[in-house]
Amino acid sequence: MNILVLGGGGREHAITWALAKSARTDELFVAPGNGGTADIAQNVAGLNAEDGEAVLAFVQQHAIDLVVIGPEAPLVAGVADVLRAAGVAVFGPDAQGAQLEGSKTYSKEFMEANGIPTARYGSFTELEPALAYVRELGAPVVVKADGLAAGKGVVVAMSEQEAHDAIDMMLEGHTFGNAGARVVIEDFLDGEEASFIVMVDGENILPMATSQDHKRLLDADQGPNTGGMGAYSPAPVVTPDIHAQVMREIIRPTVQGMAADGIRYTGFLYAGLMISHGADGKPIVRTLEFNCRFGDPETQPIMMRVKSDFSEIIEAGIDGKLDSVEVEWDRRTALGVVCAARGYPAHPEKGAVIEELPENTAEQMVFHAGTALNEEGLTVVSGGRVLCVVGLGESIAAAQKSAYAAARQVKFDGMQMRSDIGYRALNR
Ligand code: AMP
Ligand code: GLY
Repeated sequence: MNILVLGGGGREHAITWALAKSARTDELFVAPGNGGTADIAQNVAGLNAEDGEAVLAFVQQHAIDLVVIGPEAPLVAGVADVLRAAGVAVFGPDAQGAQLEGSKTYSKEFMEANGIPTARYGSFTELEPALAYVRELGAPVVVKADGLAAGKGVVVAMSEQEAHDAIDMMLEGHTFGNAGARVVIEDFLDGEEASFIVMVDGENILPMATSQDHKRLLDADQGPNTGGMGAYSPAPVVTPDIHAQVMREIIRPTVQGMAADGIRYTGFLYAGLMISHGADGKPIVRTLEFNCRFGDPETQPIMMRVKSDFSEIIEAGIDGKLDSVEVEWDRRTALGVVCAARGYPAHPEKGAVIEELPENTAEQMVFHAGTALNEEGLTVVSGGRVLCVVGLGESIAAAQKSAYAAARQVKFDGMQMRSDIGYRALNR
């Protein structure tokens, strides 16, 4: 089977790595790929992964049997629609389904219509009514650019002034271009976050192992929001009861709501959760956001735990047969630490040579994200999140120890990493 993976981040390296292990895989392409995928697959540099017709031409030229779309941008751009219409087997939702991530307003309206628990909100294109709504909700309050903003479009404002500045910057300052021409303003929710990722085949749902991500740049969840500085799986905050509650209150109503709207959702579906407890001690689970894809960096530790042939699972997802497969999970914990470039997230500096990397073993893996090979064949920094170093261990503490032992061997100028990935699970 020939496979094409679209994307070039750490998520795509991890997915490609899982597919490369399958005996069923013949040729494996990644577009554009990165310095890590170059070792296990063929990187396709010239292909624009957001151009459906160009991807289709590549698929036909290289007799690709299966396409996996990693990032949100090609999904929102409708690449899956073009491929599916041409009869290509593709895992990833159509543009309409991808609106769950592509438009926060769409996503909130969908949740409201389907009774899915989430924060109270308003959606605005004009400054005055937006500011009035901020006064009504009071601080802290959350301001979100409606469209895709590469994880930078959310401001958790601790004061009304901060919220005003964020709204002004999006609506009037056009900081996020069209993505910020509409803003969603919502209640601040307190609690512990978790990532809940499932595979959907239009009807059946196959949950992936649970995980938790660390969005802030600095230790103890301080500093600016990032795409994610580390993640681990499983996440003990998602107890079996909470897992059942999330399936019942959020995931099943979402898949059924999509189907009722005539959208056959096929692909990964990611609900960002906020978990808290009511006065009666009962868990309250609310949706912060939906993503129409796998998480990054959650994919990296989750793929470390997959023991099944992942190509079979993805094929079952495309064929509507997720009810007939099971993923065998490594019962150990996997924990991933992101090594980021100097200046990340605001102004990541590119170009530093990666001087040292630990060996990959069955218990430790370095997944690449923002890396590329330069003309001399050296691996250099080419993006903000550079690597994710994952360790497996019998406990969260052991996984943490293993991941950091490997991550400390990584050497490049300006490297930033958190030293406390997994602390919430350790403190439980
Ligand atoms: P999102 O892209 O919507 O997941 O937002 C990015 C991050 O902002 C989340 O992971 C949360 O840490 C935070 N966030 C988003 N919405 C809320 C909310 N309503 N209350 C508190 N924090 C939020
Ligand atoms: N790690 C957060 C995300 O993938 O959106």
